[in-house]
Amino acid sequence: MQSCSPKSPKNYQALYQKSLEAPIDFWQAEAEKIAWFQKPTQILTQNERGYYRWFADGKLNTCYLAADHHVAQGRGEEIALIYDSPVTETKQKFTYRQLRDEVAQLAGVLSALGVTKGDTVIIYMPMIPQTLFAMLACARLGAIHSVVFGGFAAHELAVRIDDAKPKLILSASCGIEVDRVIPYKPLLDKALAEASHKPKHTLIFQREGILNADLKAGYDLDWAELLEDAAPAECIAVASTDPLYIIYTSGTTGKPKGIVRDNGGHAVAMQHSLAGVYDSYQGDIFWAASDLGWAVGHSYIVYAPLIAGCTTILYEGKPVRTPDAGAFWRVMAEHQVKTFFTAPTAIRAIRKEDPEGLLIKQYDLSHLKAFFLAGERCDPATLEWLQEKLGIPVIDHWWQTESGSPMLANPLGLELFPIKVGSAGKPFSGYQVQILGEDGKALPPNQEGAVVVKLPLPPGALLTIWHDDARFEKSYFQRFEGYYLTGDGGFYDEEGYFYIMGRIDDVINVAGHRLSTGEMEEIVASHNAVAECAVIGIQDALKGQVPVGLVVLKDGTKISEKDLENQLVALVREKIGAVACFKRVAIVQRLPKTRSGKILRNVMRSIADGKPYSVPSTIDDPLILAEVSDKMRKEKMGEAFDAKPE
Ligand code: COA
Ligand code: AMP
Repeated sequence: MQSCSPKSPKNYQALYQKSLEAPIDFWQAEAEKIAWFQKPTQILTQNERGYYRWFADGKLNTCYLAADHHVAQGRGEEIALIYDSPVTETKQKFTYRQLRDEVAQLAGVLSALGVTKGDTVIIYMPMIPQTLFAMLACARLGAIHSVVFGGFAAHELAVRIDDAKPKLILSASCGIEVDRVIPYKPLLDKALAEASHKPKHTLIFQREGILNADLKAGYDLDWAELLEDAAPAECIAVASTDPLYIIYTSGTTGKPKGIVRDNGGHAVAMQHSLAGVYDSYQGDIFWAASDLGWAVGHSYIVYAPLIAGCTTILYEGKPVRTPDAGAFWRVMAEHQVKTFFTAPTAIRAIRKEDPEGLLIKQYDLSHLKAFFLAGERCDPATLEWLQEKLGIPVIDHWWQTESGSPMLANPLGLELFPIKVGSAGKPFSGYQVQILGEDGKALPPNQEGAVVVKLPLPPGALLTIWHDDARFEKSYFQRFEGYYLTGDGGFYDEEGYFYIMGRIDDVINVAGHRLSTGEMEEIVASHNAVAECAVIGIQDALKGQVPVGLVVLKDGTKISEKDLENQLVALVREKIGAVACFKRVAIVQRLPKTRSGKILRNVMRSIADGKPYSVPSTIDDPLILAEVSDKMRKEKMGEAFDAKPE
């Protein structure tokens, strides 16, 4: 295995051009940098449905790359993982050898329970080391993990259970939200009662001293008990194209999309992006303050830093309140973090409590070399505040669950361009990002259109949607032939910097969490007082966006606006979870629509955000727009109401 040298001369333009013009040579060279069991000779192929596949005849094991390989290379005593949990006042370090042993032992438990290559396993767990061990243990056996974010409610878990059909579910007795213990077992039981699919067992990690869950004898198994008697399991060789994991993400309907990631392409993309974008290498301390339930957690808490041989940090806490807005700076100083990654919303929360950045000054951040932001559009004020307070590169970059690694970035490991506030950077290796107009023609600089990527997508991008090739094709490839549709709108400037302006579909980003307004509409519409409704994402100073509901009542229904709001808020919280942040509902007489019946959600969103908008000529009745806009103004729903039609 060759290691990447941070010293070797690199040039963005030449490398990027090569990744587009000679993708096979480019990615074959990158593939040389990981330890395959069998090196691939077929670099880029297409399967029977025409989907691109990377390194099809290669064989490897992702857990081997993330743990065993480092031990085999004599780096077993280096620190792989630091668990820092202010909510339990715990700090723990694991060397690569300890990591390998923990994972091998847990893989032994899974194997004894009948989990084999190709089986699916759901992991519904909090931010503890056992969650990371569970992911790697699945990878070790060639089983496909699906981590479900711990903040999702039982219904969301049930939907994922029915789609992924896991053989086993791994969970823990509880999570901790600041000072609140969240019992997971009742949520899991409720999800299992709702789901049609019944896994063979659940395996429960009891968080001793915090909360012990009641286990159903014979069905719910005790993690620690089984671990004690298990025989460690070895790494199984899998094909590069075998699935490593499924991660569910919000689409435009109530059914989430099960994004499928492969083993080989993913491993190559992880090592390549960690060096090229994040300038991080073996021995460096890397911290992504995200959750293991999100793509950022998969890629940059677990796989990329561990495959590269870095020390990764698993933080069980918040940017504020655990105990204060200095929490991030404390962790960075204490563990000598070199590279940091979080969502802008976390920084807005910190800045709100410590506008002068006084807490930053209390810590020695001399090891910190770069600060990365992604997950939602970064407002210029947040980025500038960080730049001023830290004096290091603060880099906004853009990617999606689907890509698994950055598509746009200021590639620190290759070449740091002057930072332009508001831009998410330039396209990264293999991502031929373009802006298309309605007619599918490429737009010139500074004109906003649909952000697309020309095929083939590079290694690491999604293989398909789990058991739903038809949805995969419809969601991403039907709109513009030969291109992947990202669902974002944006533009680029004369110097090749791209600007991502927001989603052009019914997906919103609330505090860095991707959610579907379509799904919320389905839930709101299920209330027996509701005739029809629209849920739109409007700007929010702290969370970036929050959803609000506009509801038309069924004729003859008698319910006060306040009661309806309370009931709908409770319903969305029960079905999706508190993370939805659905807190506002207004009753309107009618919803603005086109003559063909399409609700004008975008126009209402622009009205609430105070952005310019144009009324489509196909509008059914322009008066309705004025009515709704008056109502939103009256209810103070939205940051501004003075936008005028163009
Ligand atoms: N388990 C259970 N509940 C959870 C949860 C979890 N894992 N995560 C969030 N919640 C709950 C919160 O407790 C809160 O509940 P409440 O309405 O009863 O108070 C609700 O969901 C909303 O959570 P959130 O939007 O996260 O608000 P917050 O006030 O708890 O925290 C931030 C605000 C900005 C600190 C937080 O959203 C944050 O750190 N965001 C960064 C997100 C991120 O890293 N995204 C990944 C992309 S890089
Ligand atoms: P997720 O799949 O949860 O990572 O969310 C992906 C979506 O978040 C993208 O499609 C964008 O809408 C948004 N997003 C992520 N990073 C950025 C960024 N740097 N700037 C603007 N939007 C972003």
